Amino acid sequence: MNPLIEAINLSYTYRAGSGKEVKALNGVNLQVARGEILAITGQNGSGKSTLARHFNGLLTPSKGEVLIDGLSAADRINIPAIRKLVGMVFQNPDNQLISSIVEEDIAFGPENLGLPPTVIRDRVNHALESLNLQDLRHEPPNQLSEGQKQLVAIAGVIAMKPKCIVFDEPTAHLDPRGRRKVLESILRLNRDEGITTILLTHYMNEAIHCDRMIVMDRGIVEMEGTPCEVFGRGDRILSLGLDYPVAAQLAQGLRLKGIKMPNDIIHTEEILSYLCQLK
Ligand SMILES: Nc1ncnc2c1ncn2[C@@H]1O[C@H](COP(=O)(O)OP(=O)(O)OP(=O)(O)O)[C@@H](O)[C@H]1O
Ligand SMILES: [Mg+2]
Repeated sequence: MNPLIEAINLSYTYRAGSGKEVKALNGVNLQVARGEILAITGQNGSGKSTLARHFNGLLTPSKGEVLIDGLSAADRINIPAIRKLVGMVFQNPDNQLISSIVEEDIAFGPENLGLPPTVIRDRVNHALESLNLQDLRHEPPNQLSEGQKQLVAIAGVIAMKPKCIVFDEPTAHLDPRGRRKVLESILRLNRDEGITTILLTHYMNEAIHCDRMIVMDRGIVEMEGTPCEVFGRGDRILSLGLDYPVAAQLAQGLRLKGIKMPNDIIHTEEILSYLCQLK
């Protein structure tokens, strides 16, 4: 495999001014394949955001190495190239929106890349279309819903044409409908545009749609595999402070009532079709 991102024995320690040290990552080894969608889960403080911030050079390793398309993030000279390769979307879109009109906001990144105006216009149009935001192009971002704002923030990253986007809990502030819309957009971008996607999330119903997932715990990768493989080890999931996906919870409830259920149910559609067959 020729991974897009590789963390090799990566450790990171925060050092506060007071001299206090927090070891947030402790020897992480991880590969992110080109074109895949990888979920990173784990309880609060397990090191997800610290890990993700290494993927576009916002942090550099205290020990070990991170390679992005073969470029070491420890070498400051590589940082501009790495920032072009990997875009970040955070929890709160307000921190990412800066202009007073949606289309200007989306154009901001490409303008900073020094691209010609015609290319910028094409990129803005493409980003608006990819996320079905054409109707909002002349709106002020601060008058949009949280879900719409998050989609505009994602459009701004898309307009930079990154190979990879890291989403750090992009749906944390959204209601269920907004969350669904943003998740659908993330999955569509991965599928249709081949953007390698890393999704940090506490929602197991988001993780189940990814190709692969890892579970972090106290700065190390505790579990790794397809969602079916990871959720198939239910006792470990609970001990790491995570939930099951809703369909897996329901399947377990039915098992306890004596109904025979397959072990690998994680999607709502799977449980529905299985129950329909039983009937
Ligand atoms: N700027 C910082 N200075 C000092 N310690 C920090 C800093 N940011 C994070 N930490 C510590 O590093 C550890 C990992 O934090 P991190 O934010 O990576 O976790 P996380 O898995 O993203 O958590 P959450 O689910 O709450 O977002 C925690 O112990 C946290 O307190
Ligand atoms: Mg975090």
